[in-house]
Amino acid sequence: MECIIRPSAEAAVQLVARIIEQELHVRPNSVLGLATGRTMESVYANLARMHRDEKLDFSQCCTFNLDEYVGLPANDPNSYRYYMNKHLFSEVNLDLRNTHLPDGMAADLEAACANFEKLIVQCGGIDLQLLGIGRDGHMGFNEPLSAFRSRTRVKALSPLTLAQNAPQFSSPEKVPRRAITMGVATILDARRCLLLATGADKAEIVAQAVEGPMTSMVSASALQLHPRCVVVLDEAAAGRLKQADYYRWIFENEPEWKPFRTGQPGK
Ligand code: GLP
Repeated sequence: MECIIRPSAEAAVQLVARIIEQELHVRPNSVLGLATGRTMESVYANLARMHRDEKLDFSQCCTFNLDEYVGLPANDPNSYRYYMNKHLFSEVNLDLRNTHLPDGMAADLEAACANFEKLIVQCGGIDLQLLGIGRDGHMGFNEPLSAFRSRTRVKALSPLTLAQNAPQFSSPEKVPRRAITMGVATILDARRCLLLATGADKAEIVAQAVEGPMTSMVSASALQLHPRCVVVLDEAAAGRLKQADYYRWIFENEPEWKPFRTGQPGK
C-alpha cells in the first residue's frame, strides 16, 4: 500500500481524478470500479470537467459500481444508479450499456449478486477500483465482520452507516436497511485499488485501516493485502497517521509520482 497525503481536499480529489485520467490514457478500454458518497462527487465533477475541457474519453470504458441499496429503483434520487447518472454518466461520453450497478430491485437478489460477479469476469476483471471509506471502515457496504473472502452479496447496514447516510434521505427511517455490495474479495481482485478519504471525521478510521491491524471489523484494512493499492488523503484525514512524514516524502521524491507533482500527467 502507498499512502499519499495532499495539502487540501481539493488537491487530493484532483490527484485521484488525474490517476483515473492516466489509467484511461494508458488503457482506453479500462474496466473502472466506481464508488458513491459525498467524497466522490468532486472526483466526478473533475472528470466531467476533464471530459469537457480536455477531451478525456470514456467511450470505450466499462464501469462497475461497488454497491446499490436494496429496494430503490433507478429513478429514486437516493439510489446509486440515480447518483451515478447525475454525477458522472450524463456528464461524460460513457455508453450507458457499459455501466453496471448491482440490481437492488431484483426479485432474486442472490441470483443478481452471482450475475454481477459473472459480468465482472466476462468484462475481463476490474482494472482500477475507486473506493471511499465509511465511518465504520467499510468499503462499498462491507460492514464490520465482512469476511475478507466475501463476494457480492446482500448486507444489512450497520447503525453507524444508517446514521451516516441518513442526511440524504427525507427521514432516517427511509434509509434502506440492506444493500447489495461487492465483497471484500471482489474488491481485492481488482488490478489496482485507489481509496480516497478527506476531512477530519475520517482521520481515526483511516488510521485504523492503513496502519492498524487487519481485521474484518474494518473492511478497508483488507487493502493491506492488495499488491497495488494507493490511499489518497488530505491533511485532515491523515491527522491520526503515525508515519505521515514518510508518506509525504514518498509523494515528493518517488519517481512514479513525479508526473503528478506538476498536476497533469498526460501533458
Ligand atoms: C457510502 C458508500 C461507500 C462510501 C461511503 C463514504 O456508504 N456505500 O462506498 O465509501 O458512503 O461516503 P462519504 O464519501 O459520503 O463519506
